[in-house]
Amino acid sequence: MAERVVVVGAINTDFVISASRLPAPGETVVGGGLQTFGGGKGANAAVAAARVGARVSLIGAVGADDSGKRALDELSRDKVDTSGVAVLDDEPTGAALIVVDANGENQIALGPGANGAVSAEHVRTALSTLLPTTDVVLVSTEIPLAAVRAAIETTTEARVQCVLNPAPVIARLVDVLPLRPILTPNEIELGDLARAFSGAVAPAGEDKILNQLHRVGEQTQSPVIVTLGGDGCAVRLANGEVERIPARGANSVVDTTGAGDTFNGVFAARLAAGDAIMIAIKTAVVAASISVSAVGARPGMPNAAAIAGVFRE
Ligand code: RIB
Repeated sequence: MAERVVVVGAINTDFVISASRLPAPGETVVGGGLQTFGGGKGANAAVAAARVGARVSLIGAVGADDSGKRALDELSRDKVDTSGVAVLDDEPTGAALIVVDANGENQIALGPGANGAVSAEHVRTALSTLLPTTDVVLVSTEIPLAAVRAAIETTTEARVQCVLNPAPVIARLVDVLPLRPILTPNEIELGDLARAFSGAVAPAGEDKILNQLHRVGEQTQSPVIVTLGGDGCAVRLANGEVERIPARGANSVVDTTGAGDTFNGVFAARLAAGDAIMIAIKTAVVAASISVSAVGARPGMPNAAAIAGVFRE
C-alpha cells in the first residue's frame, strides 16, 4: 500500500485574474477573464502529494456553502481523503483574490473564512485516528496557531515525521519550533523567522540567506529548506551543512501560484516513501519547477511520470 501523508492546512477557492502587471496601491489594472480554481496552501499541497502517488488525508475546514462542496468534490477527484475536513455552518469557505502578471508573479489577498475556525480539538481528534498509519504530517499556517501547535505536538508525540511550511509566519509561530519540525520557508518567511529569533539580520544577497538559514537552523536544530523560486532552494541540515539545489524542469513560467505548495506536497510524499531528505528535496524542486507552466495553483502540478521525465533529460 502507498505511504500516507496527512496535510493540516487551509482550503480556499482562488479567484484569479491574469494581467500584464500587478496593480499599485489605489490603481485599477484591466486584465483577462476571471478564472476560478481550487486553492489554499494545505489543499494544494495535499493534491501535489496525491498526484505523485501518496495516500493523502487532509485536515481543515470549509463552509457549508457551494464553494465548500466544490472544494471537497475537487479534492476527491484528486483522490485526497477529506474525512478530516469539517464543514462549518457559520463560516464561509476561504477565498483568495489573486492577480497574476505577465512574468507569472502574483499578488494574493486572503479571506480565511472557515480556515480561521479550525480548532486544536478538531486537529487532535482527526489526527489521532490517522497517525497510526501515517508516515509524514505536513502542516501549513493559514489556520490558527492553536491548530498548528496541536498538529505539531500530536505528530511529534506519536514520533511521526513533521514538516512545517511556515507560510505565513503567524504571530508566536516560533513558540512551536522547539518541537523541531523540518522547516520549509520561502525567502521572505525565512527572514521573518530569523528576525523573530534575533532582531536585525545583517548582510544582503546570498550571504543574507545563508546567515538566516544558519540563524534559524541553529535555533531549531532541525533541517531548514528555503525555497527560492526560479533559483531552486538551499538546505541547511541539522548538522549545519548547507547545500544549494538549482531549479530544473521549468519550460515556461505562466503562474508561480502554488509552486511552494507543490514543493511541500511532493517533498512530504517522497519523505513518506522513504527517500533520503536530499533526494526528496531534488524531486520536489523539479515538481515545483514544472508546476508554474499553467494558470492556477493546481493545473500545472505534475504526476510522478512527468517528474521522472525531467530526471531522464
Ligand atoms: O500558495 C498559493 C495559495 O495561497 C493559493 O491557492 C491561495 O488560496 C493562498 O492560500
